Amino acid sequence: MTAERIDGKAFAAGLRERVGAHAGKFASATGRKAGLAVVLVGEDPASQVYVRSKHKATVEAGMESFEHRLPAETSELELLKLVEQLNADEAVDGILVQLPLPGHLDEQAVIGAISPDKDVDGFHVTNAGRLAVGQSGFVPCTPLGCMMLLTDRLGDLSGLEAVVIGRSNIVGKPMAQLLLDANATVTIAHSRTKDLPAVVKRADIVVAAVGRAEMVKAEWLKDGATVIDVGINRLPPAEGEEKGRLVGDVDYAGAEGVASAITPVPGGVGPMTIAVLLRNTLVAAYRNAGLEVPEGL
Ligand code: GUN
Repeated sequence: MTAERIDGKAFAAGLRERVGAHAGKFASATGRKAGLAVVLVGEDPASQVYVRSKHKATVEAGMESFEHRLPAETSELELLKLVEQLNADEAVDGILVQLPLPGHLDEQAVIGAISPDKDVDGFHVTNAGRLAVGQSGFVPCTPLGCMMLLTDRLGDLSGLEAVVIGRSNIVGKPMAQLLLDANATVTIAHSRTKDLPAVVKRADIVVAAVGRAEMVKAEWLKDGATVIDVGINRLPPAEGEEKGRLVGDVDYAGAEGVASAITPVPGGVGPMTIAVLLRNTLVAAYRNAGLEVPEGL
């Protein structure tokens, strides 16, 4: 059996198109575009790339992008002042502070200062709490994107065995909550889990979010499992390569022979994150304007 490749890139393109169409309707209905403010402190090269792609995607979707680039030595007080100003700004529907922040800044304090109703990353404790108790709020973009791919492929997840590998606040924990809400039987595995291969073996759904190149082996998987690979790891360069290959947390080549469907790296979960960010921003705009969020967003 060769697993079907779950094309996150194509799914994300479709989602971005739907968001763009609704963003146009939002602008006609309210006389203003939905707006996303992105704050970048310092010059981390990977963060600069992310922030640039978020800006481009936001503008392409017909929304307003407000970029705030601050020097690495910005004080926490200055950053908190900017967040307050964005909270109060009616043109701003969503606020994203790019992580990681420079070491002298307290990430939890900064995230905690964002209005939960503009927290399109879903990182605020209020949104984590809303997700935990089943209230509507904002769900972190990567796990929500994984969930969209899973339900698109599998439909009803009721009663399926799901194993999430990784327990981060950004992916593992919210992913487990979403799967639980969808009536899956959920296990969260992590670095202290005993006999991880045996735990993974019972999973109909595996979500790997550990950040270790090709750690999940084909032999661990149940026949016909659906595999969502959140990892993006760069291998050391092989002979003659300038840069190493990008790989996920799952041994894709091996898993293809056992799984029924699997997300590739790149082109799987990665493109979903920005598409869901745009979606969350437009949802925030509808809610902040007191309008009903359209179906299918
Ligand atoms: N850094 C890497 N990914 C993300 C993300 O999704 N949101 C924020 N705020 N920072 C990040």
